Amino acid sequence: MSGRLQGKVALITGAARGIGRAQAVRFAQEGADIVALDVCGPVETVIIPPSSPADLDQTAALVTEAGTRAHIEIVDVRDLAGVQAATDRGVERFGGLDVVCATAGITSRGAALELDEDAWRTMLEVNLTGVWHTCRAGAPHLIARGGGAMVLTNSIAGLRGLVGVAHYAAAKHGVVGLMRSLANELAPHNVRVNCVHPTNVDTPMIQNDAVRCAFRPDLNRAPTRTEFAEAARNMNMLAVPWIDAVDVANAALFLASDEARYITAATLPIDAGATQL
Ligand SMILES: NC(=O)c1ccc[n+]([C@@H]2O[C@H](COP(=O)([O-])OP(=O)(O)OC[C@H]3O[C@@H](n4cnc5c(N)ncnc54)[C@H](O)[C@@H]3O)[C@@H](O)[C@H]2O)c1
Repeated sequence: MSGRLQGKVALITGAARGIGRAQAVRFAQEGADIVALDVCGPVETVIIPPSSPADLDQTAALVTEAGTRAHIEIVDVRDLAGVQAATDRGVERFGGLDVVCATAGITSRGAALELDEDAWRTMLEVNLTGVWHTCRAGAPHLIARGGGAMVLTNSIAGLRGLVGVAHYAAAKHGVVGLMRSLANELAPHNVRVNCVHPTNVDTPMIQNDAVRCAFRPDLNRAPTRTEFAEAARNMNMLAVPWIDAVDVANAALFLASDEARYITAATLPIDAGATQL
C-alpha cells in the first residue's frame, strides 16, 4: 500500500463488479475505506446479466483483503432518498467522506429513432439522474470535510456520438454538463469534479452476447471473445480491443488524489485514442 488515499473515505456506486469494484479495490490498496453501493439485481429494459448481492459481498471481501473497511448497501441510484440514506450511514460509520465515484450505469441498444420509450427513460434515469443523485448525496459530506473530489465515470460516448446508443450518449453528454456545473458550484468549497471517459472496458457490461452481436452482425450468431476482439480493436488507436477496469480505476485514483489538486472540470479520455481516430 503506497497510501495515496490514506485515511480517506470513498463512496462508490456500481461497486458490485466491473469498474466500480476495481475502483473499490484500487482505492482500498491506497488506504481508503469504501462505502460501496449497488442495485445488485436487474434493471428493466437491460438485457445483459445483472450483478448480484454475492458480487457486492465479493467486493467487500477484496477491500478487506486490501487492508481497509467496506460498508456495503444495496440501493438503486434512481432512489434519491435511498442513496442519501445509504451514504449517510456509511459516512456515519467511517466518520466522513472525501471522494465520490459515480460509476453505476447500464447499457441497452437501439437506433436513435426506433428506441423503446421505456429504454430511453430508464437510461436517462440511471445514467444521468442517478449520477446527480450520487453527487447530491455525497456533496454535503465533502463540503463538511473542507474539500474533496468527485469522479464521474463517463464514456467515449460522452465525447462523441455512436451508432445504436443515442440514449446512452445523450445521458453521458448530460453527465459532462452536470460535471462542469458542479465543478463551478463546488470550487468555492474546495471540491473538484471531473469525468473519466473510457473506451470499451473488459467487464460484464460488454462481455455478453447482446453487445458482442452488435459488433459482429455479419456472423448471425453470438461471436466468441476473439471474434468480438477483432471488431472492437477497430475502435481504438492503440492495438487493443478493450482496456481493463483497473485502467479506469487508476485514472480515477489519480483524479481523486492530491496529485490532481488543481484539476477540476476535466474530461479525461482513457480511450486508447478512440476519440481521436
Ligand atoms: N464496460 C465498458 O465498456 C464501459 C465503457 C465506457 C464507460 N463505461 C461506464 O462505466 C460504468 C461502469 O460500467 P461497467 O463496465 O463496470 O459495467 P458493469 O455492468 O460490469 O457494472 C455496472 C454496475 O452498476 C450497477 N448498476 C446498474 N444500474 C444501477 C442502479 N440503477 N443503481 C445502482 N447500481 C446500478 C450494476 O448492478 C453493476 O454492478 C458505467 O457508467 C458505464 O456506462 C463502461
